[in-house]
Amino acid sequence: MAIFLDTGNIEEIKKYHEMGIIRGVTTNPTILVKDGVKGGMKGVQKRSIEIANLIDPLPLSVEVTSNHTQTMLDQAIEFSKWAENINVKITIHGPNGELDNLMVAHELETKHNVRINMTAMMSVQQCFLAAMAGVTYVSIFGGRVNNMGYDSRQEISKLRNLLDDFQLKSKIIVGSTREILNVVEWLHAGAHIVTCAPKLIEGMIVHPYSKETVQMFLKDGAKFEDSK
Ligand code: E4P
Repeated sequence: MAIFLDTGNIEEIKKYHEMGIIRGVTTNPTILVKDGVKGGMKGVQKRSIEIANLIDPLPLSVEVTSNHTQTMLDQAIEFSKWAENINVKITIHGPNGELDNLMVAHELETKHNVRINMTAMMSVQQCFLAAMAGVTYVSIFGGRVNNMGYDSRQEISKLRNLLDDFQLKSKIIVGSTREILNVVEWLHAGAHIVTCAPKLIEGMIVHPYSKETVQMFLKDGAKFEDSK
């Protein structure tokens, strides 16, 4: 069980990687735009290689930028060559429910040795079918599931049971993390991995009562220094 960072920000990745508390990084086009990647696909390549080298051998997810079948195949094969530890995100279906994406994912995993992270999934059945297609990771968006009025914890636990019962190799990544509480509750529900923004990790570490306690220790510790 592990925490991934859901970011394209190099400084944040460096910071938490040096603490030894993350086990991978996930990105998507929206995150890369937010984290200032410019220069078209060359910019995506540059940032992705930088992150992949920084965290090597931990995994990095990079998402395709098109839903055209051949472009998805070409991009996935290309991205996977940028670095050994890059896996490729493909959404469960197209923007209008086009069904090619599972076939693309299956072909990439079975014929091209590309590890796939099937993403933008909101239900157990989507994740189960992606796992049947042989993907390495199934990404369910827990925060969005909650926002639709379903309890993401129940979905995660049902999904974990199915994967275990059918002995499917896919690992569950829960993303779309909105609250600090999500991280532990989703891991507890059966997620193999929760991916979250750096700010939430900071919130997991820093506690107001710990601050007060540390201040007390330092204040009293200083009294020994005064009496030297
Ligand atoms: C997961 O891999 C995604 O990058 C991410 O968590 C999406 O979440 P959002 O709902 O914040 O867009």
